[in-house]
Amino acid sequence: MIYAANWKMNGNTRLINHMLSEIKLEVIPYISKSSEIILCLPSIFLGGAVISCKNTPIQVGAQDCSSHKDGAYTGEISAAMISDVGSEWLILGHSERRQYHKENNPLLYEKLLLAQAAGLKVIFCVGETYEQYLNGTAKEILVEQLSVLFDPSFINLNFIIAYEPVWAIGTGLVPELEDINLIHQFIKSSIFEKTERKSNVLVLYGGSVSPENVKQIKSLSNVDGVLVGGASLDPEKFKQICL
Ligand code: PGA
Repeated sequence: MIYAANWKMNGNTRLINHMLSEIKLEVIPYISKSSEIILCLPSIFLGGAVISCKNTPIQVGAQDCSSHKDGAYTGEISAAMISDVGSEWLILGHSERRQYHKENNPLLYEKLLLAQAAGLKVIFCVGETYEQYLNGTAKEILVEQLSVLFDPSFINLNFIIAYEPVWAIGTGLVPELEDINLIHQFIKSSIFEKTERKSNVLVLYGGSVSPENVKQIKSLSNVDGVLVGGASLDPEKFKQICL
């Protein structure tokens, strides 16, 4: 199981230290060796977090990168910089980036190329809006969002998918369990059919994951982990989610 935390624009050094000591003392000794914990933090904290996570199984990730390699782009952070400070993971295509920053496939294609060149592992987010869910176009939308990964340039990209219905993010709403499992299966088979990729693609579920609902979500056969937003900011809740 993969437990990924997406802190968005939240947190500070104190919370990071608190979270790390909770995970080291109260989670790592009790979870299976194959479980992975990934903390996706605001970029400014990545370098410090990488140092604090040294010699632990906790991995660190960023939440976005620039679509430019380097140069005169004031305020931007490149994929190479994220990797340079020792961060291994990168979230791309989160619905908040798609919504507030108008991220689309051509832009994400550039970011994916740079992430791949920097050797980062990508958590690629996809998900339909409530309207798309209601009008039955969710699968079409998901294939459209995934299609950027079908490009042969990404045959060797190290990525996992996070299925995050937009209407489930931060709302307390979660799709029916059966629907989550079917959509994960659909995502896996779409990637399998449209690319030359031989290995199984891992798919995380994200959207209002909580200590109360995580056990049922984790029990689904096509769920390989969770991407947790709000609840990952509370060390006690995140601990319960991982255990
Ligand atoms: P949430 O956010 O857990 O607060 O719903 C998930 C996400 O946006 O990654």
